[in-house]
Amino acid sequence: MRILSGVQPTGKLHLGNYFGAVRQHVELQKEVGADCFYFIADYHALTTIQDAATLREHSLDVTLTYLALGLDPERSVFYRQSDVPEVTELTWMLSAVSGMGLLERAHSYKDKTAKGIKPSVGLFVYPVLMASDILIVKSDIVPVGQDQQQHVEMAQDMATSFNAAFGREVLVRPECRLSATPKVPGTDGAKMSKSYNNIIEIFESGKALKKNVMGIKTSSVNMGDPLPTDGDTVLELYKLFASADELAEMEQDYRKGAIGYGDAKKRLLAKVDAYFAPARERREKLLADLSYVEDVLRDGARRAGEVTRATIDECREVTGFGRIR
Ligand code: ADP
Ligand code: TRP
Repeated sequence: MRILSGVQPTGKLHLGNYFGAVRQHVELQKEVGADCFYFIADYHALTTIQDAATLREHSLDVTLTYLALGLDPERSVFYRQSDVPEVTELTWMLSAVSGMGLLERAHSYKDKTAKGIKPSVGLFVYPVLMASDILIVKSDIVPVGQDQQQHVEMAQDMATSFNAAFGREVLVRPECRLSATPKVPGTDGAKMSKSYNNIIEIFESGKALKKNVMGIKTSSVNMGDPLPTDGDTVLELYKLFASADELAEMEQDYRKGAIGYGDAKKRLLAKVDAYFAPARERREKLLADLSYVEDVLRDGARRAGEVTRATIDECREVTGFGRIR
């Protein structure tokens, strides 16, 4: 069973990335028969980051984050998307068999341009590049957060269109796998996202973390009055970390008016801080051994390249271009 997922190097990873995606990625490594491919989606990031040093810095940061959170390079192939340029060749082939209507229905393009991101051709074609990432390794399962589900469905359509156009079952239709928490709210209550300025970073600590958690938007309730439990961001985030008993206690305190938002946020803060402390320590160690980190990426590129070259050769053959190896 082949599994693939990617994360864009567009900034520091946050709780949404972790509970929506990365935690699942790490857990799936342990499943029997799982053949995991995880990558840094740097071609995708080029639509928003057009500064070489910043792109490099973010790519390193995503790598350190994955390794610190438990990605095991022995079990998983971990690589930079731009180290396997065959994905861009397949992107072109898929573009040729994809209707405009399919791409025009993409929510993420509309959401991103509505948020002020420049509507470039690359941003519009992005689901084709993403389909290529998935199809080029013949992934069966794609573990992502809810916002990416539509893109995986588009990849299914493109696999079908490609196979139908060329009359051969070359590409595999992937299935989307959502985590138990596919839509983590940000500090403003909307979906947590690097592009929405509402994130709590995984590796934030001390004053910065405190400022962020204490700044979570809440409703206005008089001291001593019960707090609403429905749609409360503090409670939603606390759920990600707390045991069933701790959650029940917090909910009871909300209902009885036994806690104010300040104290609820302090409980959440303590949880976030403690939960990621071991990973923070691992990250520090990795930072002191960057040649190991580079080795991981080099080895990942080599292993991913074997798979992507085999697929592109098949695709070249059925399209009529012919193999180049
Ligand atoms: P961002 O929206 O912050 O730019 P990405 O698009 O790079 O994040 O997402 C990387 C992965 O994390 C994807 O699988 C995505 O679905 C998941 N993800 C991002 N934000 C959230 C969220 N708020 N809740 C759940 N999953 C999320
Ligand atoms: N589009 C994804 C995101 O923004 C990242 C991504 C690129 C991806 N290619 C992928 C995720 C392939 C899963 C599979 O989060």
